[in-house]
Amino acid sequence: MNNQDKINQLIELRAKAKLGGGIDRINSQHEKGKMTARERIDMLLDEGSFEEYDMFVTHRCRDFGLEKQEYLSDGVITGHGTIDGRVVYIFSQDFTVFGGSLSESFAKKICKVMDQAIKVGAPLIGINDSGGARIQEGVHSLAGYAEIFERNILASGVIPQISLIFGPCAGGAVYSPALTDVVIMSDKTSYMFVTGPKVTKTVTGEDISTEDLGGATVHATKSGVAHFRADDEEEGLMLVRKMLEYLPSNNLEEPPYTPSKDPIDRVNDELNEIIPENPNQPYDVKDIIHTIVDNEEFLEFHRHYARNIIVGFAKFNGMPVGIVANQPNYLAGVLDIESSRKAARFVRFCDCFNVPIVTLVDVPGFLPGSVQEYGGIIIHGAKLMFAYGEATVPKITITLRKSYGGAHDVMSSKQLRGDINYAWPTAEIAVMGAKGAIEVLEGRNIAAIESEEERKKYTEEKEAEYKEKFANPYEAAKYGFIDDIIEPRNTRFRICRALQTISTKKETNPPKKHSNIPL
Ligand code: HXC
Repeated sequence: MNNQDKINQLIELRAKAKLGGGIDRINSQHEKGKMTARERIDMLLDEGSFEEYDMFVTHRCRDFGLEKQEYLSDGVITGHGTIDGRVVYIFSQDFTVFGGSLSESFAKKICKVMDQAIKVGAPLIGINDSGGARIQEGVHSLAGYAEIFERNILASGVIPQISLIFGPCAGGAVYSPALTDVVIMSDKTSYMFVTGPKVTKTVTGEDISTEDLGGATVHATKSGVAHFRADDEEEGLMLVRKMLEYLPSNNLEEPPYTPSKDPIDRVNDELNEIIPENPNQPYDVKDIIHTIVDNEEFLEFHRHYARNIIVGFAKFNGMPVGIVANQPNYLAGVLDIESSRKAARFVRFCDCFNVPIVTLVDVPGFLPGSVQEYGGIIIHGAKLMFAYGEATVPKITITLRKSYGGAHDVMSSKQLRGDINYAWPTAEIAVMGAKGAIEVLEGRNIAAIESEEERKKYTEEKEAEYKEKFANPYEAAKYGFIDDIIEPRNTRFRICRALQTISTKKETNPPKKHSNIPL
């Protein structure tokens, strides 16, 4: 073979590798409305930036006739490229090769890019589309998964890890995405479950479809496993590009600053009237978020899950922040098990990647009842408290309206090391609402009044007295628990200036191996 022949051989081998499991399987993938592993990479990364590793890797299995079936790349495409010029590492499972199933070699390829991503300090993006463990490889496949899991764990809080689920993801395979920071599922073409419908039926008798057991809608609305449900793969891939606009490449860097044309002193008169006169009337806190952030842009996580709390990324004067806001429009913005878990995870995500947190408070308290108590609201509420209290990033809190009881303390209060705590004049900061308070304090006196009319009058008077004294921000401001009471229309300016001022904040926690957050 002369040199030209050798070059031709390389070109041929590359072309062969790029065909994966062959044209028929590629067509079948397209017929299912799915892209191939390589098409996904091309769509995600900056044009021409992808550098592939390990194209010539094949499996080592010599059983079940597999020695006669070898595909270059062995069912997973790995390497690095750039997104908006920043380096990212990537693996993309190729369903056209043995159903994207994971062999020993396949796992080693993924581990190689994970190791490199951690060393370089660059985000890791995993595209999942796989039938799980390669059955013919037995324990080697299980070991391969565990190698990946361990790296997911070690990389957690060091580099952002984002998982896309664009096909099957079942059995123990679900745990790699579950260990990452963000899970994005494509609607109707993906599913995730620990145990599939067939085994579920055998073991429990429950008859349920794949979609109903583990489709994108289920995980985006009921389980909260998926942070995003994308209408299609393209939307999912574009979400990754968008998300990286808010995240640093690793925990030692600051989030990327991009100059903003939206004036920081933009005054929003409509905010002065946004809180209804009637304290029991809801409003949409997302209207406030969109009004105050740069260019009305808000990347909402978990949009369909635990809708009584809103979390997501936005920017103020070009600086990325994480926003956490109680949502009065849904369950009155009450804190319950799901919303506490959702917000706690988000607060910790922001904190490990140095993203400041802006908290908008309008919370009537924790949801009462046996369902919540039996479900462990004590522990789940503690998660959110722990997350806020442990976070060392700049923390700005604006109390818009209600801030009652334990929920007041939890929602980034001054005592949980809130750096700047502002309140609108409409804020009500107290141990509990007037109705509940008067029932406790005046119950005996009220019961002693014989006439119903008199009872009502007395109760209303006492409630009004209580509201006058406590349903305002001044009592808290008197003791410095609130730094200032601000006009709603100036909120954007006050947040922008506060963020700028405290951007150099340095705070550390006592040295320890790690904390013991109530999981
Ligand atoms: C080897 C596999 C495979 C697997 C699929 N294939 N899954 N090969 N190991 N796990 C092969 C098929 O034989 C087929 O090969 C090709 O991939 C495409 O699969 P189809 O079944 O034709 O595709 P489809 O109809 O779309 O169904 C996809 C599927 C199904 C639902 C994923 O293939 C399936 O149920 N696979 C088995 C899933 C499974 O039980 N995995 C192990 C789970 S245990 P040909 O040559 O015909 O094209 C596990 C433990 C992990 O994962 C533990 C980690 C800790």
